[in-house]
Amino acid sequence: MKILVATEKPFSRQATDGIAAIAREAGYDCALLEKYASVDELKAAVADADALIVRSDKVTAEVIASAPKLKIVVRAGAGYDNLDLAACTARGIVAMNTPGQNSNAVAELAIAMMIFMARNQFTPGTGSEISGKRLGIHAYGNVGRIVARYGKALGMEVAAYDPFVTDPAVFERDGVKMAASVEELYRNSDYLSLHIPATPETKGSIGYDLLTSMPQGATLVNTARKEVIDEAGLARALAERTDLKYITDILPDTAAQLSEQFGKRFFTTPKKMGAETAEANVNAGLAAARQIVAFLKEGVTKFQVNK
Ligand code: 3PG
Repeated sequence: MKILVATEKPFSRQATDGIAAIAREAGYDCALLEKYASVDELKAAVADADALIVRSDKVTAEVIASAPKLKIVVRAGAGYDNLDLAACTARGIVAMNTPGQNSNAVAELAIAMMIFMARNQFTPGTGSEISGKRLGIHAYGNVGRIVARYGKALGMEVAAYDPFVTDPAVFERDGVKMAASVEELYRNSDYLSLHIPATPETKGSIGYDLLTSMPQGATLVNTARKEVIDEAGLARALAERTDLKYITDILPDTAAQLSEQFGKRFFTTPKKMGAETAEANVNAGLAAARQIVAFLKEGVTKFQVNK
């Protein structure tokens, strides 16, 4: 059996060594394809792979068609919008993610981004404090819950909305206000931290109306996915409301225009770095390897996302 780790954005060496050790102990081979420049390289590398570990790498129907032996693909991370689940299912390939393994890293970045914007992107001048401000968490999953906890520790007033978390006890337990609707959340958030996945329902769902409903001086923080933003609506909102700010960890399609038009009210990281910590690399990478071994040896499908 051969496990291929195909990561355009490489894991730390500690993580790849750990994955290789897990494979070796199971009696499997492990191959590494990092920083590849074309889909052809990926297609060639998966040709003899039984299992595949990826990060945000796109596992398309074309890639799957090039992997005749593939039995399992694990997205070492949370969001699996980069996997063609229908193509996996059609071939009987199990697709998994590693939920929670990199959440803390992303949550820390979300908090850092709020402070960075509150302090004028660390340039001279009077900034503000996030303590005492209202923090809205859009989607209360693994990352959202940690951001809520850190926000509270920093003295923020925290509210959240998640269409799939409807039990008020979940929010009460964490001392978080449950917003009645997404509109109510945006209306009352000085900082809005996005944690929704990119799905057909959420794509382009954050735009002009929600943004312009936010309070004076509000900041939208996106450590989720670029696809959930309606970029034309965002640009219109930022142009009309010169007090609004947007910071993102996922390079927008229109980054150059946003940067030119809105200066310090906009910031993007050049390459998604939310999960780029040594700890998150090890947690997610090793979890993926362990899930593969548990599946291939014992048929464990606990984190399967294409059931
Ligand atoms: C995730 O969904 O887990 C994050 O977006 C991290 O993505 P990455 O592995 O490409 O850094």
